[in-house]
Amino acid sequence: MCGIVGYVGRRPALEVVTAGLRRLEYRGYDSAGVAVLADGVLAVAKKAGKLVNLEKELGEHPLPAATAGLGHTRWATHGAPNDVNAHPHLDDAGRVAVVHNGIIENFAALRAELEERGRRLVSDTDTEVVSHLLAEEYSACGDLAEAMRLVCRRLEGAFTLVAVAAEEPGVVVGARRNSPLVAGVAQGEGFLASDVAAFIEYTRDALELGQDQVVELRRDEADGSVAVTVTGFDGRPAEVREFHIDWDASAAEKGGYDYFMLKEIAEQPKAVADTLLGRVDDAGRLSLDELRIPPEEVREVDKVVIVACGTAFHAGMIAKYAVEHWTRVPCEVELASEFRYRDPILGPRALVIAVSQSGETMDTLMALRHAREQGSKVLAICNTNGATIPRESDAVLYTHAGPEVAVASTKAFLTQLVACYLVALYLGQVRGTRSSDDIREQVRELSRSADGVERVLSTMEPVRELARSLASHDTVLFLGRHVGYPVALEGALKLKELAYMHAEGFAAGELKHGPIALIEEGVPVVVVVPSPRGGSVLHDKIVSNIQEIRARGARTVVVAEEGDEAVVPYADHLIRVPVTPPLLQPLVATVPLQVFACELATARGNEVDQPRNLAKSVTVE
Ligand code: M6R
Repeated sequence: MCGIVGYVGRRPALEVVTAGLRRLEYRGYDSAGVAVLADGVLAVAKKAGKLVNLEKELGEHPLPAATAGLGHTRWATHGAPNDVNAHPHLDDAGRVAVVHNGIIENFAALRAELEERGRRLVSDTDTEVVSHLLAEEYSACGDLAEAMRLVCRRLEGAFTLVAVAAEEPGVVVGARRNSPLVAGVAQGEGFLASDVAAFIEYTRDALELGQDQVVELRRDEADGSVAVTVTGFDGRPAEVREFHIDWDASAAEKGGYDYFMLKEIAEQPKAVADTLLGRVDDAGRLSLDELRIPPEEVREVDKVVIVACGTAFHAGMIAKYAVEHWTRVPCEVELASEFRYRDPILGPRALVIAVSQSGETMDTLMALRHAREQGSKVLAICNTNGATIPRESDAVLYTHAGPEVAVASTKAFLTQLVACYLVALYLGQVRGTRSSDDIREQVRELSRSADGVERVLSTMEPVRELARSLASHDTVLFLGRHVGYPVALEGALKLKELAYMHAEGFAAGELKHGPIALIEEGVPVVVVVPSPRGGSVLHDKIVSNIQEIRARGARTVVVAEEGDEAVVPYADHLIRVPVTPPLLQPLVATVPLQVFACELATARGNEVDQPRNLAKSVTVE
């Protein structure tokens, strides 16, 4: 939700800021804007729509050369996505510029107070109050960082703010509460951004900023160095953690693919393999070093609760089957947005697992805070080093998917599954419910699944062809049983967000309780079939379900294991996936559904990487 960049240094600020915005556009693309500081004057440009509109505007009306500035790409919360509501926002005199991510909850009261003092606010945003308050505080104290601290103490809600003032041309100030902000440091320059991707091209050395902190980047005009000072909102010096970013700029580029999503789908075999790397010791035992919960406490766990949103929630649903089967510990899965509002029964023996690619999803963050307040231990499964969710958790298991830029999650999902399987096996290992041979075998199967994904990817042309043939349909349904049910939900979610089609996933057993009424002549129904091996009852039941829907006119698209001949007579289209242990099937069965959704979106002329109304990282509730 909104991408923010701030820069001070020796390079042309506009170039640095717009390049950063390009890398952050996945966070929101309703409007974009920049401000640069040149010769004591703030020059601003902003435009509704995607960054390309702003770039066109800058081409036609260039801003003056400058070496400090800031920029914003917006996902609108307050006020329509038009030019006026685009950030940066300025005070009356145009001396202070601010960009913001989050929601200022008490903005109405602050706005009324400002208007009473004669301030003229021109936008419908919550953000604009900050530029006016900052200008007032700045004119009283003459120090932008101090003004920011004073203002932040008055704000309620979630916010990342970055500001510049015409009077301090070598200073950029940022602040954060419940919303992401990182600093990048390099010789003679400093960066602020919502995500390290914005400055990875220039430096891989970064600082994690904590809650309720203000950071000042100040250039020394004599020697050109840039000093970074971090304090709390109360002005006390704050400790910051330095970290090195372990991927490079090319990881956040399309690398020859038309879309990030295509690249990220193709990267899945590597992402799965990387997430498994180093998790098993020489004796074949799982050693999850980052998991800092002592074994005694793991043995005490009497309930696992998984909280997550969207695709990560589907990973959690699949994890439930693995946790309960491998450990015999009861496992609940809950949408993070619902969790704390139903007063869940928690306590010191509950292990809460928060699954999040970005590590910044507000609903998941609030759920984990609630769990910790109730005394539960929280383990984060996260793809983003140093993000808020892992930082506020008791332990973290990082997935190694690399940066995921497309709004639709693909490789992050597969690696979340891998991490969930590892945690479930680890619980089984520590609690003695799985033998070491069994754990070794499951880990071996997990490693093999990376090749399985590779195999699936090499057979996707018929899936793409099928997707193109369905471009004019209005509805696609998805059915599954057991772990295939969350896969069906994930297939439907991908189609909704990318193809803007009516798509729904059902547990196949629920069909006759209502959804079968949706079946009419020609409706495509994708069925995820469990393995037939071992005379699986589930397999036989779903074969019956396929016949039932086909008898009512459905066009069946059957995702089935290689060698499963029983489904052949009832499949209008057959998508083969490699043989895997039943619990691991989602690792291979999800991939064709990702490709299917991506191709359908393309065929319908939709924006694959930036679907309408969405943003990659949902940092508001
Ligand atoms: O960053 P997170 O994993 O916490 O994000 C959760 C969801 O917002 C995310 O998975 C969303 O559902 C995806 N766009 C789906 O493709």
